[in-house]
Amino acid sequence: MTQAYAQIVGWGRYVPSRILTNHDLAQMVDTSDEWIRSRTGILERRMAGPKESSSTMGARAAMAALEVADLAPSRLDLIICATITPDYPLAATASLIQDAIGATHAGAFDLNAGCSSFVYAISVGAQYIASGAARNVLIVGADTISRILDWTDRATCVLFGDGAGAVVLRMSEHPTGVLHCVLGSDGSGAESLYIPAGGSRLPASAETIQAKQHFVKMDGHEVFRFAVTAMSQAATQAIAGAGLKPDDIDLFIPHQANVRIIQSAARALRLPMERVFVNVDRYGNTSSASVPLALCEAVEQGRLRQGDRLVMVGFGAGLTWAAAVVQWGVPASAARRPWWRTLVQKVWGQQAIVGSAIRRGRRRISAMRVPTVIPTDDDEEPSRKR
Ligand code: COA
Repeated sequence: MTQAYAQIVGWGRYVPSRILTNHDLAQMVDTSDEWIRSRTGILERRMAGPKESSSTMGARAAMAALEVADLAPSRLDLIICATITPDYPLAATASLIQDAIGATHAGAFDLNAGCSSFVYAISVGAQYIASGAARNVLIVGADTISRILDWTDRATCVLFGDGAGAVVLRMSEHPTGVLHCVLGSDGSGAESLYIPAGGSRLPASAETIQAKQHFVKMDGHEVFRFAVTAMSQAATQAIAGAGLKPDDIDLFIPHQANVRIIQSAARALRLPMERVFVNVDRYGNTSSASVPLALCEAVEQGRLRQGDRLVMVGFGAGLTWAAAVVQWGVPASAARRPWWRTLVQKVWGQQAIVGSAIRRGRRRISAMRVPTVIPTDDDEEPSRKR
């Protein structure tokens, strides 16, 4: 059997239209544009509207990625949604996306590894393809961090933003695509970036809400220190694992948390900033969406050409880190979308909405028709009764 490689053949992104600038934030908490800009490099971020959530943004990014890949949703085998802000605590966001885009033959699950989730998901998706278990895998990174922030805590609320990005991985015989991945975790640092309540350890109660324990708590200094080391070490290991040197890397796509962290990691890797992609200034830290958003913009800006090698690196809550070395295998022309491809996507989108409505309707009707029977001891088959 020939070896199978996971090639990135589609990419798409979605960000909400509402922009929240540093000046807006200065009206809300005791901060300033100068402080945020100089400490983080962030100028503005996007905020989800009342009808938007991780699944709605993720579905928009997914449809855009499928359009580039020229792939019907029904041909997807697997959907992995990287998210730390699922729509619901129970019922995977990946399943909601699967329904919304009409991927009727795909398995779906969520993956939470903090802000490293997207790179973790790339690694998992690539393994499904390498093992032959899947041909087409959709990886979505979607987060609505604005819903888990304490908007009175200036130490955290200025750092984050909402958005989604997605890629389609397709099985290929060409030795390009995902070359090597590195995953890591150190749970002894879990409490330096976490949400204390709402899980099984401290379930939601009036007291936990009163104490604002459902919001992100962070030790900024600790996370900063960890991030610089984790990013540079994960990237170094992944590059070496792919049989390459840092010099062979054409583009470094780091998790967009803070431009100072990115600069320090680039220095440690001896990579000039011209080979580092940065868009944290316009989106802030979008968690699972940050790497795919950056990847999409890098492609749109012509920063990636066929044959280029890139390394995507994430770090975040857990604590976790992850890096993936990828050889870009598609020509720039793949991004050109003829009008009919957009039209076909629109039709698939409508089909997905109608299909979902029919399935929901059928479920309701069958629930009315079939009485729910709870078996009791008296229900034993007559032949087995003594
Ligand atoms: N506006 C104005 N002042 C602020 C502020 C804000 N938004 N947030 C904190 N401050 C204050 C602090 O209270 C402190 O005041 P003090 O000296 O009077 O106590 C001062 O600014 C300096 O705070 P400090 O925490 O030392 O700043 P810093 O240079 O370390 O930067 C972070 C803070 C959060 C930007 C930085 O630590 C960081 O980026 N950490 C990593 C966070 C991260 O990436 N998290 C996500 C990981 S996925």
